[in-house]
Amino acid sequence: MKSRHLIDLSSDLSVSEWEEITNLACDIRKNIDSYYGACRGKILATLFYEPSTRTQMSFQTAMLRLGGRIIGFDNPANSSVAKGENLKDTVRVVGGYSDIIVIRHPLPGSAKAASLYSRVPVINAGDGGHFHPTQTLTDLVTLRHEKGTFSGLCIGLCGDLKNGRTVHSLIKALAEFPGNSFVLISTPSLRIPAYIKDYLSSIGSPWQEIDNLADAMPLIDVLYMTRIQRERFASESEYYEQRGLFVLDEKKMSLAKKELIVMHPLPRVDEIAVEVDDDPRAKYFEQTEYGLYARMALIMKMLDGQTKQSEALPRPADIVCSNPDCITQHETYVPGVFRKTGDILVCDYCDERAQL
Ligand code: CP
Repeated sequence: MKSRHLIDLSSDLSVSEWEEITNLACDIRKNIDSYYGACRGKILATLFYEPSTRTQMSFQTAMLRLGGRIIGFDNPANSSVAKGENLKDTVRVVGGYSDIIVIRHPLPGSAKAASLYSRVPVINAGDGGHFHPTQTLTDLVTLRHEKGTFSGLCIGLCGDLKNGRTVHSLIKALAEFPGNSFVLISTPSLRIPAYIKDYLSSIGSPWQEIDNLADAMPLIDVLYMTRIQRERFASESEYYEQRGLFVLDEKKMSLAKKELIVMHPLPRVDEIAVEVDDDPRAKYFEQTEYGLYARMALIMKMLDGQTKQSEALPRPADIVCSNPDCITQHETYVPGVFRKTGDILVCDYCDERAQL
């Protein structure tokens, strides 16, 4: 692996490693019992500072199916986080109890910050509205099974594209494959962040933004619906302004190609009418099962091979990130690090542009 941690799919795994993991996931699906014992004696820790059903339980099931064991918390209020323990101390301690850590946290950049202080591999299971790389591995396994390819697809992504971490990771991944194009369907307030558009433009990947789902339906091969992320809004009234504006129903499905597949990372709220569940093009429940195989394959890959040395802490930059949600604003001992993209300085943790 390019890195001992998985924070961002594009930075930490090569495209050939994505293919290796998805191929392994396909084999696990066919022969799941033969993988029991692959992680015997190993312990996986899940540190979930935010709610989860699929990600946490599929990681736990994955480790149990591999013959390993699990520890962790799914509510920080029941851990010493409630007493004021910082992220660094929690990760250092749990790294002493386990062989691999899976972390979900509400702040962008938190998984990367955690990785700086961990002696064992860290997997990002969602850092605020930033990235969700293991959902993307799940999505790739779904595409492999349901479309047979990662290339030559017109992918529509609809809903909360601003806060939906699954779409950020997925777009970056699918842009790596030839012939893909993106139709980004959202209200102006919930458009995809600038760093994703910059990325698509920098690699010449075609994309367009529209605000009408019905117009997109005939164009697309894959529809990736997302929930409006209530927990990321500053107020309830702002959330209610956005809620219910995009709903996939039978009428819209009738406008789509016969070969369309509909994906959704789930949980669903009201953005897909339940009548669509019976349409054979709806693949979101199959997708949750593919997530188990993807995570089994990932755990095997990350625990495989020689133990890599921890890297030294980066030298802190002279400026601080201006994103109020960035982990460096909350865990202030975390050294600020920025990279240059053209003339723009970008925070290495949350990917927001620096305000100089
Ligand atoms: N897709 C996903 O991340 O679901 P959970 O929030 O239930 O883990």
